[in-house]
Amino acid sequence: MKRKVTKAIFPVAGMGTRFLPATKSVPKEIMTLVDRPLIQYAIDEARAAGIKEFIFVTSRGKGALEDYFDHSPVLEEELRRKGKDDLLEVLETTNMDSGAIAYIRQHKALGLGHAVWCARRLIASDEPFAVILPDDVIAADRPCLQQMVEAYAETGGNMVAAMEVAPEKASSYGVLDVADDMGSMVKVQGMVEKPKAGEAPSNLAVIGRYILSPTVLKNLNKIKRGAGGEIQLTDAIAKEIDSKRGVYGYRFRGQRFDCGSKSGFLQATVAFGLDREDLRDDLSAYLHDVVNMGKAAE
Ligand code: UTP
Repeated sequence: MKRKVTKAIFPVAGMGTRFLPATKSVPKEIMTLVDRPLIQYAIDEARAAGIKEFIFVTSRGKGALEDYFDHSPVLEEELRRKGKDDLLEVLETTNMDSGAIAYIRQHKALGLGHAVWCARRLIASDEPFAVILPDDVIAADRPCLQQMVEAYAETGGNMVAAMEVAPEKASSYGVLDVADDMGSMVKVQGMVEKPKAGEAPSNLAVIGRYILSPTVLKNLNKIKRGAGGEIQLTDAIAKEIDSKRGVYGYRFRGQRFDCGSKSGFLQATVAFGLDREDLRDDLSAYLHDVVNMGKAAE
């Protein structure tokens, strides 16, 4: 029987330079979409998929992340005193069971692969694990990682979330070379991180959700710096292709927002705002006005 996936690694040690100066003092993962930080969306998705243990790979200056998952006795007492039970309930979603959360430091930003490798001692040698990049936010009826966990129960092996991208965008992603296309799932025969223009093996790009065999952590021991001078997770996963476990791409159902980029973050803000009953009317009236003003000015 395949082992259940109950641990997830959240690599959050990047410097978030695209959001400077904000990220000088605020971790990117604490930036808010509507009223919840990016990390909360990631945690909610992990919980829906059955994850019980949360491993954060952090770095200098990410203290706000640790505080976010801590209890806040003064605030909680004040809300209780004022009878604000609805807000107390909201706060509960940020609480973690004792021992359910671990923090590991990545001392140098050597790349995503290196960040995941930093958590190697917290994953047993026979234990599959998930990796979630909180800056990829996915709006979906069934949370993306939950879809993947269900598919993984059939296939085992290694699984990466995959999405079609325009050919000119492929060089920003890890791209899959597809051996067999089965619809929602593809069998992978190669992976290239950030291929040069015109050299992408397909337009199927890897998005920040993974279910991996612990062998990937062993592979990372030997991975040298790859694209962009960083230790790439893609390269360690690619080493699994010829194993009996293999690598699968999973075409998730949902809309992904690249919240690591300013434009993606703004789009997500609008999309998540429009999805909220309490904000929808005001926000869509405002967007209408903006569009009409633009048209009138043409
Ligand atoms: P990005 O490529 O978006 O890098 O990392 P970044 O540093 O966060 O942001 P920019 O490009 O400077 O604006 C993708 C994910 O991998 C993590 C990041 O925290 C993010 O979740 N990461 C990246 C690490 O944890 N360590 C690294 O060395 C690199």
